Amino acid sequence: MAENSVDFQGVLAEIQDEIDPFFGQGKNAGYIPALSDVPGDKFGMAVHTVEGEEFLIGDAQDDFSIQSISKLFTLMQVLGFDDIDIWSRVGREPSGTAFNSLVQLEYEKGIPRNPFINAGAIVVTDILASRSADASRRIGDYYRMLSGNLSNRVDEEVALSEQDHGYRNAALANLMRSFDNIQTPIPDLLDIYFRQCALTTSCADLAKAALPLACGGYSPIAQKQVLSTRDTKRINALLLTCGLYDAVGSFAYKVGLPAKSGVGGGIVAVLPNKFSVAVWSPELDSYGNSLVGSKALELFTTKTDLSIF
Ligand code: DON
Repeated sequence: MAENSVDFQGVLAEIQDEIDPFFGQGKNAGYIPALSDVPGDKFGMAVHTVEGEEFLIGDAQDDFSIQSISKLFTLMQVLGFDDIDIWSRVGREPSGTAFNSLVQLEYEKGIPRNPFINAGAIVVTDILASRSADASRRIGDYYRMLSGNLSNRVDEEVALSEQDHGYRNAALANLMRSFDNIQTPIPDLLDIYFRQCALTTSCADLAKAALPLACGGYSPIAQKQVLSTRDTKRINALLLTCGLYDAVGSFAYKVGLPAKSGVGGGIVAVLPNKFSVAVWSPELDSYGNSLVGSKALELFTTKTDLSIF
């Protein structure tokens, strides 16, 4: 199908019908109790083209917890600082392990494999925190600038819920500190990290916020260049190879778009120079990615014949 003849709204409606059998096969994130109560049958999807058209379906305007998708935006923010070399502290390779695994980090001497697993994201947040007295607000401001929605705020209940159960993230941060790869005091750092993960957003907001990755680093919402074209290319490459953790190979095979997932059930993906697309459905597969959301994106690229491949 030629791209300019794609009926995006029609495709979204078909997907909404066809994903029905996949509900009930996954499970909400249980390790953050505040996320386990979200109704599992929620489903929303939003497409935003680089020309400025928006297409929404289902619960596309409902708020949900951004979780690990926030890691994409803190990375964009840190790469926006000219004078920072983050790559001596974080790698650029797929991990092949779970997003919150401790195993690799010990034998790789506290250098996380990539910025999207939890350990890598904690280092990126540490870099941001070491340059800002109020990193939490700065992270929120940056996201609100990209989404254009001032009501994207920290859900305090989710932040607290994760704080109360964040033993693994505390272990990752402490392990990295023992290798001198963390500078911020750990309780402060974890607080900032949990708060970035607890930002609320919707599919419509997310599709807008990710647009710079489809527009060579330019945000049509903020109406400014937020990334260089070179960093935009690099982030898209990292999303393709690391954005869905140890499911990244299957996701590239089935969907074929650079993407980032979160345990709130959101996934955002981009096709450079064409569109961004966001989906939300809270039930997760065994890798911690939205099961219905992954299926919806597979249907989307199959039906439109639009992917990077
Ligand atoms: O740190 C955590 O475990 C969560 N706040 C975020 C994890 C996450 O979203 C993984 N993504 N699928």
